[in-house]
Amino acid sequence: MPVLLQTLGTWSRPTAFLERCRARYGARFTIRLLGQPPLVMISDPEEIKQIFLAPPEVLHPGEGARILEPIVGSHSVILLDEGPHLEQRKLMLPAFHGERMQRLSGLIGELTAGEVDSWPLDTPLELHPRLQRLTLEIILRAVFGLERGSRLDSLRELLTRILALSESPLSLLPPPPRLISRFTPMVRFEAMKAQVDELIYGLIEERRDEPSEGEDVLAMLLAATHEDGSPMSAQELRDELMTALVAGHETTASQLSWAFERIAREPRVQERLRAELDSASGDDYMTATINEILRRRPVLPNAEPRLVKEPVEIGGWRYPRGAALLANAYLLHHDPAIYPDPYAFRPERFLENPPGTYTWIPFGGGRRRCLGASFALLEMKIALRTVLDRYSLTPAHPRPERTRRRSITISPADGGRVLLHARSPGPAGADAAAERVASPA
Ligand code: HEM
Repeated sequence: MPVLLQTLGTWSRPTAFLERCRARYGARFTIRLLGQPPLVMISDPEEIKQIFLAPPEVLHPGEGARILEPIVGSHSVILLDEGPHLEQRKLMLPAFHGERMQRLSGLIGELTAGEVDSWPLDTPLELHPRLQRLTLEIILRAVFGLERGSRLDSLRELLTRILALSESPLSLLPPPPRLISRFTPMVRFEAMKAQVDELIYGLIEERRDEPSEGEDVLAMLLAATHEDGSPMSAQELRDELMTALVAGHETTASQLSWAFERIAREPRVQERLRAELDSASGDDYMTATINEILRRRPVLPNAEPRLVKEPVEIGGWRYPRGAALLANAYLLHHDPAIYPDPYAFRPERFLENPPGTYTWIPFGGGRRRCLGASFALLEMKIALRTVLDRYSLTPAHPRPERTRRRSITISPADGGRVLLHARSPGPAGADAAAERVASPA
């Protein structure tokens, strides 16, 4: 198929295009997109393991993500490889550690309740823009550590506009030459980015001068030190804050939109979730449901492309320098040999078997596994609890939503359209709900 058609297919019908290729070529095939190296799609768990465990000098995921550089900056952990990647990742890991995240539950719960309480009842509602607003607010408050005020308002407005630009299909193409870029949205992007940088550098300077005991991610990054004892530079801090924003805002919003789109169509699952919430008997079924949402609708259909730097053999095939290897979560998660009846939404499968390291990869894997996985899971758990405590959900259309590419993610085509109906908790439910607000997620 001509490169242009492959690019259009990947853009307009991402999952259907992958499925068609698999039906025709099997578990391993190469697609070619405009301006990109050959992309080898891999969906065999053993081969995925070899990709995730390959030595850092052989496969370079950082180099494969260069397209993000204008927004995240050259120090971003996502763009680095080998030694520099490891060093930056070590600085960031404690800030994103699961236990540390739990301390943010109160703030995330409060922001989520504020958003969810404003949603209208008994009318078709597109959830995606609302969830996008929520996940942006959570990152600005819990990661950047911003307090309510004019800086938060200005950053919120500028970042919303910058992130909207990246939803265009053009944003996936390599940047045009300078002369042409003067006539594209790049000019607006550069101007807004300069204002964002000024606000973020101002914030970093202020926080350095007045060290606080804050629970936010920036507080941890300000306290982190390189091996020689030096603190992270202002540019490193700025780049990692922007990385968290780009990697963690649209992904979580789209994943939550799928969560509600799916759950609205599954009264049985809703009932079981609600029974678990009302009886305050742990959260095994909630965890299994979230695992199933991430299996069935991974918003990033593949882990970061790994650029081959030295010829490498994987699964009996030899890949030359310059190819890019992609561990494909979407195809892996829909392999009937691993997940019987793969298109059915059945959280119970994860009650029976916990997710496997190389068979469930919505967060990628190896030394590049998503740094924000605990953060995202916490946000999802709190959002689902908050909504299910208050409402029952029904779908706005009988037909499940198709997929649509939105910036780097695959999102529900209609934005997750549902109807919310008031639900009055019985006395047991009310008690349990009050208890949950008081205790961490
Ligand atoms: C449901 C939400 C999310 C999903 C599905 C997701 C998924 C992913 C995936 C697939 C990767 C690539 C891993 C690889 O190539 O092996 C990744 C990397 C990353 N994610 Fe997430 N992510 C989510 C939310 C977040 C959040 C909330 C943050 C931060 C606040 C975050 C920060 C990062 C960072 C920093 C990396 C780069 C790690 C590295 O290169 O070492 N992500 N994410």
